[in-house]
Amino acid sequence: MDNRAADLKAVTHIDNVRLGGDGKSVVIIDQTKLPNAAEYLTLRTAEDFYNAIFELKVRGAPAIGICAAYGIAVLASQIDTEDYSIFLEKFRKYKEYLNSSRPTAVNLSWALNRMEQTVLRHQDESTAQIKDLLLKESRSIQEEDMQMCRAISEYGLSLLKDGDGILTHCNAGPLATSRYGTALGPLFLGKEQGMTFHVFADETRPLLQGARLTSYELYKGGIDVTLICDNMAGIVMKNGWVQACLVGCDRIAANGDTANKIGTSVVAVLADYYKIPFYVLGPTSTIDMNCPTGEDIRIELRSPEEIRSKFYAEPMALEEIPCYNPAFDVTPAGLITAIITEYGIARAPYEESLKEIFRKKKTGALPD
Ligand code: MRU
Repeated sequence: MDNRAADLKAVTHIDNVRLGGDGKSVVIIDQTKLPNAAEYLTLRTAEDFYNAIFELKVRGAPAIGICAAYGIAVLASQIDTEDYSIFLEKFRKYKEYLNSSRPTAVNLSWALNRMEQTVLRHQDESTAQIKDLLLKESRSIQEEDMQMCRAISEYGLSLLKDGDGILTHCNAGPLATSRYGTALGPLFLGKEQGMTFHVFADETRPLLQGARLTSYELYKGGIDVTLICDNMAGIVMKNGWVQACLVGCDRIAANGDTANKIGTSVVAVLADYYKIPFYVLGPTSTIDMNCPTGEDIRIELRSPEEIRSKFYAEPMALEEIPCYNPAFDVTPAGLITAIITEYGIARAPYEESLKEIFRKKKTGALPD
């Protein structure tokens, strides 16, 4: 028996973020330690949650949102008052603090706002009841994410053919989400159905999510994967080895401009040149209809050390050399063939098609 195929379920059901059994902590797999060690961390304090997100121990837009939702439910359970307004004030302090951990992925503020709405909707109930409702809401956020990933995977798979070569950037698999993932979801689902793909995983400098996480997940799931440096995407496309690019997203503006891991826009430009479809896959929780265009997306800037010295045995540039380290870039909507959500596939003009996706969300149920 192929051991790797047997691992498919383990990969798609990885325990990346979960509420601790006592409801007073959150347990995450430390993504910075993968693929060399599977270490779990227990988070309890506001600083634990902030640091886990800021240091990318938990990462990927949906997983950040899930962790923050669980985090604020745990922190709210520690607020020792029966007075609603004191409770709300303390809740909001925690919310602001967690929300400041990373600015680009909208799922963080989306999840925290949803948790705040729970507090506001139940102001006539006791703080003890509100605490229970927050735990319930945080669990729903994760359960819904599982359903969303499954639906995205199905829509995404409908665009692929058996034997396709795929290029992906960064990591939008089960570690970054719940279950199948977004950009990697169609590949895991296709594999379950007996399809084969060959995937080129960009290593994704400077934090190497493609090397450390994507190639690991695909390999463990029994999917053929070849790791390439980011600057090799052009040659594999030119060689005719790529039939589709699949990427995740951190914030999609109302006009379809999409922020994702730095380097994504370079892949999109190459795909456009080589006439390869470029698909963005993400849940509606990553679409920010209050953000008109990519110009309005705040891009996280990170430490120069991630470029100069992280992952190297010794620094690869003098300390004096200035570095520019944006964590994300924005792919213009014009380079995106389609945006695949849990409510269907949106195509240009995105101003219209994304609104239609939200209309469906209001009325429709997710496919089973
Ligand atoms: O900095 P990261 O690793 O959190 O960036 C993650 C990405 O860019 C992912 O592609 C995105 O969050 C989608 S995850 C389904």
